[in-house]
Amino acid sequence: MAHIIDGKKIALCTRNQIKKEAEEFKKLGINPTLSVVLVGDNRASKSYVNAKHKACLENGINSIKIELPENTTEEELLLEINKLNNDDSINGILIQLPLPKHINSDTVLEKISPIKDVDGFHPVNIGKLSVGKADLIPCTPLGILELIKSTNINIEGKNALVIGRSNIVGKPIANLLIHENATVTIAHSKTINLKNLIANSDIIVSCVGIAHFLGDNYSYKEDSLIIDVGNNYKNDKLVGDVDFDFVKEKVKYISPVPGGVGPMTITMLMRNTLTALRKQIK
Ligand code: GUN
Repeated sequence: MAHIIDGKKIALCTRNQIKKEAEEFKKLGINPTLSVVLVGDNRASKSYVNAKHKACLENGINSIKIELPENTTEEELLLEINKLNNDDSINGILIQLPLPKHINSDTVLEKISPIKDVDGFHPVNIGKLSVGKADLIPCTPLGILELIKSTNINIEGKNALVIGRSNIVGKPIANLLIHENATVTIAHSKTINLKNLIANSDIIVSCVGIAHFLGDNYSYKEDSLIIDVGNNYKNDKLVGDVDFDFVKEKVKYISPVPGGVGPMTITMLMRNTLTALRKQIK
């Protein structure tokens, strides 16, 4: 039976550290502040934004929620971002995705000042990550790397397989693992012979978004580590990409869903807010 990587516990530890750091800033008269912008009435987005807001307030980070109606124009949203960019009391800006269809997400994300881009989605920050000079790194990949490191395995030289090539998770975690000197493969829906890749991987990060995509249909290295980024619903129940009950008997380390990557993402958002603040003070 695998060692279960406890994302809740690791997140809590990091949150306590964040709380302390936020307190130190407050002693200097600085109030670390994140602004989260939500456009429209997407229910899932609303609940994510509320969770981010609540976590910030619980951990000493000021959170300003800006809720704009579904019919907000792209121009109005860009003006709002411009205001936040120029407001010295705001350290981090997050525009919740997805945006309504009439708004171009790329244009919007490029408008955020890279120094306040706590999502790490601005092309400047993506570029810095690809050359190994990033400071604001997308939150989910950052959380995944923390989970892997929590096991104290040696990442260097290992075969790491990232299944999924999204801009938000797959590509950035592949870059982070490259900079940890892993030998990284990115697989996706067109990959041929995934079976072989899985059987030869020491580290697998699954971000395909298909419930129980990895189960008894594959064989695994018995000393491997699996991070499950899936956030899928099956019969109204939250499940990952990995059939946890089966795979936990086959590998050495595994992160569960829920209680794995999930709690780390918001934690890394708060850490990025403090990182952004530090850059702004410099
Ligand atoms: N929607 C789903 N995940 C994310 C995320 O990490 N950042 C933002 N801004 N929106 C999201």
